[in-house]
Amino acid sequence: MFINGGTVVLGAEAGDEGKGRIVDVLAQNKQTIVRYSGGCNAGHTIIDDAGNKSVFRLLPSAALHRDKSFVLGQGMVIDLAVLASEISALPTDISKNLYISQNAHIVMPYHIMVDAARDRDLQIGTTKKGIGPAYEDKVRRTGIRIGDLFCTGLGDKILTAVRQWDSFLQKPYLKYANNITEQILVLASKIESCNICDTSKFLEGETSILFEGAQGTILDIDHGTYPFVTSSSTTIGGVLTGAGVSHKKINEVVGVFKAYTTRVGNGPFPSEILDDLLAKNIREIGNEYGSVTKRPRRVGWLDVGAVKRSCTINGIDTLAITKIDVLSYLDQIKLYLDDGSYKTFDGWQEHLAADWDLWPSKAKSFISFIEDYLGVKLGFISVGPRRNQLIRFA
Ligand code: IMP
Repeated sequence: MFINGGTVVLGAEAGDEGKGRIVDVLAQNKQTIVRYSGGCNAGHTIIDDAGNKSVFRLLPSAALHRDKSFVLGQGMVIDLAVLASEISALPTDISKNLYISQNAHIVMPYHIMVDAARDRDLQIGTTKKGIGPAYEDKVRRTGIRIGDLFCTGLGDKILTAVRQWDSFLQKPYLKYANNITEQILVLASKIESCNICDTSKFLEGETSILFEGAQGTILDIDHGTYPFVTSSSTTIGGVLTGAGVSHKKINEVVGVFKAYTTRVGNGPFPSEILDDLLAKNIREIGNEYGSVTKRPRRVGWLDVGAVKRSCTINGIDTLAITKIDVLSYLDQIKLYLDDGSYKTFDGWQEHLAADWDLWPSKAKSFISFIEDYLGVKLGFISVGPRRNQLIRFA
């Protein structure tokens, strides 16, 4: 791993791959950690050495590390209430180390309302956090940005934006927009001690950066299973536009995937396990419930074909496989290949230590097949949620 330069960690599947735990470990050797896309639809879980669990939705997963800089980039959509509560829940005050892009968009209360109302028709199964409507306002050029909070004319901008959502909102607009403006200004006061700036410029001077992706390649607005996708660029292109850095800042791309595949919400899932009992068992052992919405995740065999495509799209240099321990009790394990067939492996049915040399040969064969199939080196194997349950080859 490059200590200097930029490393990207992104999801090679449909989100929930365990990116947070990989970011948490890699952040030890980096100075600046950047979230560049999405919003509080993400839920990145960290379990520290003492077993304490934290879930980060907007702040980078490494926010528990001291003496680092944290950036929320311009590609993000930020719910101020969630951000304020996440900052105040941290054991130490990070506001002086937190750089928030003045160009990042704000998820407004009406976005959350619209998201829920519209998903009743569209049935995408969104997280209902207002993400899609916030990005729509961005593209329509009626979005409210972080920088607007500290300028005159905020009320007028909110009124203009509110008018665009007329079929969903309360009337009269003026009163509604005034109420929202008041609420937003209260929330703005909670982040004003952070560094609100052109984070792209700030990053120009940084040399040791970790870019933390949210969601995964299958949910990307351009590369994913449209329309069953999120509204942001979750893939490598999102780093450049969302963090606002040159491609020359990126030295290495780490793709994270699970030893099986999960998906929340609707959309195609060719390797989904249709045997309810088996799917339920994997869901329970893997605790496959949304960290934000608590929805049960759909469970399937690892779609290595999709991961292969993700390697190509993102130019993945190193792979990290997580949660392989969840499969340890199974007598048979399958992989879904890109020709639509399955390859079946005998289960190893024993505990996997965080030491590759102690692994049973059946588990080693499973891993070797995946590595050969993908043609990309495996840098990390996670055998449990704690920091010390990680085998590291990189
Ligand atoms: P949205 O991002 O809330 O608009 O949801 C669009 C789709 O992306 C839905 O299928 C969500 O379940 C899915 N999604 C959004 N964020 C995540 C995530 O962090 N993990 C997994 N799925 C997600």
